[in-house]
Amino acid sequence: MAPTHRAELHRAIDGALREHPKRLPTAYLYDAVGSLLFEAICELPQYRIKRAEKGLLGAHAAELVSRLGGVGRIVELGSGSGDKLDLLLDALPREAPLDVVVVDISATALELSRQSMRRHPHVRLHTVEAQYGAGLAHATAERPGEGRTLVLFLGSNIGNFDPAGAAALLADIRAPLRAGDALLLGADLIKPEAELVLAYDDPVGVTAAFNKNLLQRINVELDADFDPRAFDHLALWNAEAGRMEMHLVSRVAQTAHVRALDLTVTLGANERIFTESSYKFAPEGIAELGRRAGFGVGAQWIDGEALFASTLFVVE
Ligand code: TRP
Repeated sequence: MAPTHRAELHRAIDGALREHPKRLPTAYLYDAVGSLLFEAICELPQYRIKRAEKGLLGAHAAELVSRLGGVGRIVELGSGSGDKLDLLLDALPREAPLDVVVVDISATALELSRQSMRRHPHVRLHTVEAQYGAGLAHATAERPGEGRTLVLFLGSNIGNFDPAGAAALLADIRAPLRAGDALLLGADLIKPEAELVLAYDDPVGVTAAFNKNLLQRINVELDADFDPRAFDHLALWNAEAGRMEMHLVSRVAQTAHVRALDLTVTLGANERIFTESSYKFAPEGIAELGRRAGFGVGAQWIDGEALFASTLFVVE
């Protein structure tokens, strides 16, 4: 991992574990093990986000491309395995060279994107290992000669931000764009509570492993002694906030030491560490988020089961 990026994450952990209630930064879930566990989550029958979004992209990519006209650059924030980008590239004409910038905090994700881009020799791929903000600044610093910029923010990654954070991020995405550029935003829709909870607490325990891996990562990287077995994974729907919440619950009263941060963490029985929010959206709410950031709504595609929405925002 890039050293500055690592130092940034370690500082974030230090701060978050000292807060009340305790938290851990979501971005930290995606080390090599976490990234592969997340790929496994995407294959679970209970977690339908990725399949739903890929279905929408497959069905509407041609329309999307024809709406946009010539695309000169694609910037993807949080690419994961890179297979959705792959799908879109299949719908784009291959004659002209295309700049693709992929920003992800996970080195594993960037490697997977590199692999899937081998199928597209006309693509000039740039990978940026960074969080979205820093990555975006880097990705949009230079402007390719011609063509529009299409930003991809897929997988309902927007849901990992609270409303103020989501608004700020969309404004950051909008800022360097020019008329004709666009943003494709993928967002998971609100659905019945039982379905949502199962998607984040699957019966096989892959999601629990993904969440607990955070503790193991801290053990390895920050010379800590958390016992992941002494924690339960908790996923709950917070109806008022409109979000799923993931926590790690300390089963017993315990103390852990994070030696590299010179930090002692005391946890009471049943005390929670908040690890992630995943906000869920109504279609109109998504459109409104984009409008408030200064985008026009070009199109919105929703699957037949109303699981997921892909919204194309345009700069007018
Ligand atoms: N961004 C994904 C989402 O919100 C991440 C995720 C899926 C996740 N399952 C999880 C994060 C469980 C923490 C715990 O859907």
